[in-house]
Amino acid sequence: MKKYKLIGPITQLVSMEKSSVKGPIKDEELVIIENAGLLIEGERIHMVGIFSDLTKKAGSLDVELVELSADHVCIPGFVDAHTHICFSGSRARDYAMRNAGKSYLEIAQAGGGIWDTVIQTRKASQQELTYGIIKRADTLLKKGVTTIEVKSGYGLSVPEELKMLRAIKNANTSSEADLIATCLAGHMLPKDFDGDHKTYLEKISNSLFPLLKQEKLTNRIDAFIEKSAFLPTDIYPYFKKAKAMGFDITVHADQFSTGGSEVAVKMDAVSADHLEASTEDEIEMLANSNVIAVALPGASIGLGCNFTPARKILDAGGALAIASDWNPGSAPMGDLLAQACILGTFEKLTNAEVLAGITFRASAALHLNDRGRLAPGMLADFNLFQTDHFNEICYHQGKLDPSEVWKRGDVVFQQ
Ligand code: NIG
Ligand code: FE
Repeated sequence: MKKYKLIGPITQLVSMEKSSVKGPIKDEELVIIENAGLLIEGERIHMVGIFSDLTKKAGSLDVELVELSADHVCIPGFVDAHTHICFSGSRARDYAMRNAGKSYLEIAQAGGGIWDTVIQTRKASQQELTYGIIKRADTLLKKGVTTIEVKSGYGLSVPEELKMLRAIKNANTSSEADLIATCLAGHMLPKDFDGDHKTYLEKISNSLFPLLKQEKLTNRIDAFIEKSAFLPTDIYPYFKKAKAMGFDITVHADQFSTGGSEVAVKMDAVSADHLEASTEDEIEMLANSNVIAVALPGASIGLGCNFTPARKILDAGGALAIASDWNPGSAPMGDLLAQACILGTFEKLTNAEVLAGITFRASAALHLNDRGRLAPGMLADFNLFQTDHFNEICYHQGKLDPSEVWKRGDVVFQQ
């Protein structure tokens, strides 16, 4: 095997270099290299530039030439920074009831909601959960998603959360995509827990957190801040403990009511996700912080709710990532690119902002600085779309699939 690979000529290479993590981006500001080449060494990018220049430079190297004959646009591998793809069962009945006008309470009383998925997921073996994750991760990978965050949160006890996080860890060893695990034991107070919110969170932080460290299952802690889940007063001590142990914090914030994003800012979380209910106050607070705002259009589409005020967040100077929230309840579609493009049309985001939201801004939401842009030293995670202009990617609203997906320097999907 040769030491280097040179890929090209590429009609347009969208490097995402130089664009800032915060604030608006005009399409004209994107760094685009025409007739480009990508020189890869192992799993990382060695050089990005004009193909003819790279061909000359590569002359003296031990290089394999991967020549492209048709027009291609090259863009960093997509990063889905918020999913719940470790689950069992379907919530099609919830979906039907919701669309038929039933309330949240009526659905819960009929045995639906998060708790239904907890029951189904607890019944599944760790192996079954692993298979489910691999299958869903593969679906995302074929759509160009090379890094996927995966939450627990349907176990809601120490052993069941461990089972989910071990399943995620095992799936990561088989999946072509990188899976980044997050502990969401703070998803809701389990109905079978004998105690209040505070006692439950104490149990999790005292008994589960040390095991997460010991088994290296995750370095991220999430919680759902909402009246139906956990209040800020419950969550502060929980997050403080997590931070003191070195975990990154991420928050399900402002989905139906406000309060969560304030916790995210005060706790210096890496991200605040959802934000459909955020008002001007929350938008300003987030924009003045280092917290990445993560819009989840899949949940808005799944629930028939308004979208996260993405335009306002960007105009206020905030950092906006976009993720799929793929889960069996509120976001069953699981198509990141389609959802990001749809958010773009409703929120008047530029194509640059949509694509930034699922590349380097999404990797920032995961605290990862080795992906999301195409530059020397970064992971060679990228997509080739068979088209001559990057505008075509958003224009097709998720229907234009990558012709090749590359992960860590190798082709992992081709069509
Ligand atoms: O991100 N909001 C809370 N949690 C998930 C929904 C989970 C479920 O309904 O199963 C979300 O939308
Ligand atoms: Fe979620």
